[in-house]
Amino acid sequence: MARTALVTGGSRGIGAAISKALKAEGYNVAATYAGNDEAAAKFTEETGIKTYKWNVADYDESKAGIEKVEAEVGPIDIVVANAGITRDAPFHKMTPDQWKDVIDTNLTGVFNTVHPVWPGMRERKFGRVIVISSINGQKGQFAQVNYAATKAGDLGIVKSLAQEGARAGITANAICPGYIATEMVMAVPEKVRESIIGQIPAGRLGEPEEIARCVTFLASDESQFINGSTISANGAQFFV
Ligand code: CAA
Repeated sequence: MARTALVTGGSRGIGAAISKALKAEGYNVAATYAGNDEAAAKFTEETGIKTYKWNVADYDESKAGIEKVEAEVGPIDIVVANAGITRDAPFHKMTPDQWKDVIDTNLTGVFNTVHPVWPGMRERKFGRVIVISSINGQKGQFAQVNYAATKAGDLGIVKSLAQEGARAGITANAICPGYIATEMVMAVPEKVRESIIGQIPAGRLGEPEEIARCVTFLASDESQFINGSTISANGAQFFV
């Protein structure tokens, strides 16, 4: 029977490419979204992938949503914690709300997404936890003290989960995308974006499909021994 994958923030941007790529590989896919009903409905219409609305920053909502997905689509074998936001500001201007919103969504959101599916993965002796981190979690970024903290935190999460899950057939890995052509990057002021592209040896932004390719690789049954790792996909902008 086909395995089931859950992708948070899976109806737009990198998440949409991940959902579609997993479906193309034959997985049953469910995608979550936070607020944009119109984009989610359009996504389902175009792809046939079911979408579910909940706020990953809320544990109870996440748990209830995951129970619904498991009842309607199947027990979750692959979880892709992709949902994330930015609230960029130089540190001297960053507000406690900008800090908290990003921590709650990007970091606590990973806990809230993985924790409810973890017991089932342990029982079934199979699981794939894939967390979408960022180049900016590896190198830091001007105006992203909050975001970089969460994305660096992702790397600690997967390295710890990898050790806990290894004997239960569960792997946990992170992907660190560089600058990818999505709405999030397009929201950066054009002058700043041009200067960022100038720092990418590939000379271009990445495509969401190039990150989705990393996910399908990590999701497969054959990737069992790849555990606790970080895959960087950034056009040679930064090496760890
Ligand atoms: N490095 C050094 N200096 C920088 C800088 C940088 N990367 N970016 C801006 N600055 C400087 C500006 O030149 C300006 O300098 P001056 O004071 O000498 O003019 C100063 O910092 C900006 O000061 P402002 O008070 O004008 O800043 P602001 O409050 O208007 O904020 C900003 C502007 C939010 C920093 C805006 O420039 C911005 O959005 N920058 C992009 C941040 C970024 O790269 N975010 C990544 C988003 S994509 C993503 O997160 C996806 C992923 O995972 C890769």
